[in-house]
Amino acid sequence: MHNATPASIPVIAIDGPSASGKGTVAELVAAKLGFHYLDSGALYRIVALAAKQQNIAWDDALAVAECAKTLAIEFKNSQVFLNGVDISEAIRTEEMGKGASRVAVHATVREVLVDLQHSFCKTPGLVADGRDMGTVIFPNAPLKIFLTAATEVRAQRRYLQLINKKAAGDDTQVSYADILQDLQERDARDQGRASAPLIKAEDAILLETDNLGISQAVEYILQNYQLITNF
Ligand code: CDP
Repeated sequence: MHNATPASIPVIAIDGPSASGKGTVAELVAAKLGFHYLDSGALYRIVALAAKQQNIAWDDALAVAECAKTLAIEFKNSQVFLNGVDISEAIRTEEMGKGASRVAVHATVREVLVDLQHSFCKTPGLVADGRDMGTVIFPNAPLKIFLTAATEVRAQRRYLQLINKKAAGDDTQVSYADILQDLQERDARDQGRASAPLIKAEDAILLETDNLGISQAVEYILQNYQLITNF
């Protein structure tokens, strides 16, 4: 069932831990190629938000999965709608990032989201960003990238992102120490879970971005894509 996408549609799977730059890189690669883009993390964030709105505990696997089944999720341009309501901002909080990683440990919840993720695989192609794109959701993807960086580098990036958000009027308190701790907890939960843990697919290319800018990472992925399409 996890191989249910047409082999003729190219998929570039980009996996990696939080704040590795995956999202930005994946979106730019998709734009360059004119491909569709799947932000699979957004789906887990939406489930966390919906569960919270319905007073369902994130650790209640069955109730969260039932809740996930009922959601009408729609992506339009760069906005996300849940049951017709624009929740693009609401899912981007640190709380929902944490909630996403809590609901994402449940195999039952992950299973509910499989078909929706496959539905993004349309011509001319897809760039899929997440934790298990290359291992579970699109195991036949012709190009798989595992994007990562040292925890401290990622925490520093997330810190700068949040400081910028704060400068734009967000009044959430930001502390580097809290962010680092949160990232470490999230990494441990993502890597340690039994269902679809965060792991580099055997056939994925490891791309360490500690000293690599966004545009260099994008260029590297595009070059690798060109290599496989020229065969
Ligand atoms: O923005 P950030 O990288 O922190 O997170 P995200 O990509 O929005 O994903 C939020 C959480 O959802 C992650 O910490 C994972 O626990 C979970 N997730 C997952 O389990 N599988 C995916 N394919 C994508 C995200």
